[in-house]
Amino acid sequence: MLDINDLKLMLKSRVPIIVMETREELRALELFKRLMDDGLYQPLFAWSVTEGLYRLDIDSGSQRHNAQPQDVLAHIKASTLAGIYVLMDMHPYLEEPLIVRMIREIAQDYDRHARTLVLISPKISLPEEIRHHAVFLEVSMPDRNMIKQLLLEEVEEWKHRNRQPVKGDAHAIELLMDHLLGLSYADARRLIRNAIYDDGAIKQEDIKEVMEAKYRLLGGDGVLSYEAETAHLADVAGLERMKHWLSQRKKVFLSAEAPEGLDPPRGVLLLGVQGAGKSLAAKAVAGAWNVPLLRLDFATLYNKYYGETERNLREALKTAESMSPCVLWIDEIEKGLATDQEGGAGPSKRILGTLLTWMSERRSRVFLVATANDIEALPPELMRKGRFDEIFFIDLPDANVRKGIFAIHLEKRRQDVANFDLAALVNSSEGFSGAEIEQAVVSALYSAHATGTELATQHLIEELRITRPLSVVMAEKISALRAWASQRTVPAN
Ligand SMILES: Nc1ncnc2c1ncn2[C@@H]1O[C@H](COP(=O)(O)OP(=O)(O)OP(=O)(O)O)[C@@H](O)[C@H]1O
Ligand SMILES: [Mg+2]
Repeated sequence: MLDINDLKLMLKSRVPIIVMETREELRALELFKRLMDDGLYQPLFAWSVTEGLYRLDIDSGSQRHNAQPQDVLAHIKASTLAGIYVLMDMHPYLEEPLIVRMIREIAQDYDRHARTLVLISPKISLPEEIRHHAVFLEVSMPDRNMIKQLLLEEVEEWKHRNRQPVKGDAHAIELLMDHLLGLSYADARRLIRNAIYDDGAIKQEDIKEVMEAKYRLLGGDGVLSYEAETAHLADVAGLERMKHWLSQRKKVFLSAEAPEGLDPPRGVLLLGVQGAGKSLAAKAVAGAWNVPLLRLDFATLYNKYYGETERNLREALKTAESMSPCVLWIDEIEKGLATDQEGGAGPSKRILGTLLTWMSERRSRVFLVATANDIEALPPELMRKGRFDEIFFIDLPDANVRKGIFAIHLEKRRQDVANFDLAALVNSSEGFSGAEIEQAVVSALYSAHATGTELATQHLIEELRITRPLSVVMAEKISALRAWASQRTVPAN
C-alpha cells in the first residue's frame, strides 16, 4: 500500500523533487487524489507527453501546447504559485542537459516558489545535478490484508460468473497469499486469476506456478536463479538431526509473525565432504517447507558484472526478500568469498561485508542455506556466532545411512529393494560418499544391462570393489575436516 502519511510528510518537509519508482502509475495518481480529500490542498497538476499538462484536482481540460517536456518545465518555472506537478515517464528525457538544467533551477528556486515535482516512472536514475534535491518515495506493495481482499474479490467474481463457488484447500490459499506478497496489485490480481480460472479451484499445483511467475516478474537476472526442481526430505538418507531441526522450525518460518520470544529461523551452513549430499540437502529444505528455492551464483556475480558486483548482490538479495518466504541457497560459499584469493580489500572482501550486513540486519523470511567443503577458504567472520542459526557437519554416511542411500537410489531406478542383500552392500561400501554410492548403482545397472541380466547385489559389489572411495583418496583432507568440525559444528546425522 502506498503510504499516504509518508507522502504528506515529504510535502510538509518541503522536498523539491519526489521520485516514485513504480509500474503502477494509476495507483500512484490515486494517492495524490486522496491527498486532496485529506485536506492538504495545493493545486495539483499531472503531465504526460501525450496528454500535456492538466489539473488533477479540478476538471479544466489539458493544455496540449505544454506536451513537450521542455515546454511544460518552462511553464512550471515561469509560474510563481505553489503547486504539485506529477510528471509521468519523464525518465527518458533526463538524458538531455537542457531538461536536467530546468529541473534543477525549479528545485533550487523552491524556497521562493514551492513547486514540487513528482517523477513517476517504472525506473529512474537521476543525474548528479538534481539527485541531492530529490527523495525517493518507496512504493510499497499491497500487504497481506489487501491481498486477502483482492482474493475475496476475485473469488466472488468467479462465483458470480460461473454460478458455483471456487474450490480451494485452506493450506494452498494461505500459501498463495504468502507468495503474492511483494507483488504489485495488478500482478497479484493476474496471478490469482490464473490460479482460479483454469479449474475453478485454488490448489497446491497453483502455488508452484505462482512462485515461478513471481520470480519472472521480479526480473530474476542471472545472479539469482529460480530452481524449479527442489527435493524432498525423503530423497535424503540420514541427516536425522538436521531434519529434526528443520521440522521443528518449519511452522515458525512459515507463519507470518514468529510467536513471541522466538526468533524466526534465518539460516544454516552445511559443511562436509564432497558428495555427502550438501547440495541435495539444501534443495530439500525448500521442498520440505514448500517455498521457492533461489540460488545465488557467485561465479555469475563476479564474471558478468565486473565492477558492479556489490550492487548486483544487493539487488539479488532484495529480489530474494520480495520472494519471501523462500530459501536462498548459496552453494560452495567459500569459492565466492575466499579472502586469500584477492588479499586486502578486493571485491570478495566487499561482497563478504555486504553479505554479512544483510545476514545480521534482515527481517524478512529468507532462509539462507549455504554449503561449503573447503574450510581453509572460509572467512572466519562468516562462522561467528549469530550469523547462521546452526552449522551442520555432513560426514561420510555411516552403515545405517548407506543402507538408506542404496534403497533410495535403487528405488529411483525402479529396482525392488527386497531383491538385494543390503547388509552386504553396506559392508562393501564403507568409506563411500552418497554420490559414490549413487554412481555405483548407475554403473552396475549398465553392467547388468550389457550382459542382459537383471541387476543383482553382485553387480553392485563388483562396482564398489573397483572404486577407490573418497575416504581413501582424500583421507588426510577428510580427517582434517573432521577434526576442525568436531570443535565448531553439530553433526547433521
Ligand atoms: N544422504 C544422501 N541420500 C541420498 N542421496 C545422496 C545422499 N548423499 C548424496 N547423495 C547422492 O549424491 C548426489 C550428489 O550429492 P550432492 O551434490 O548433494 O553432494 P555435495 O555434498 O553437494 O557434493 P559437492 O561437495 O561435490 O558439491 C546427490 O544428488 C544424491 O543423488
Ligand atoms: Mg554440492
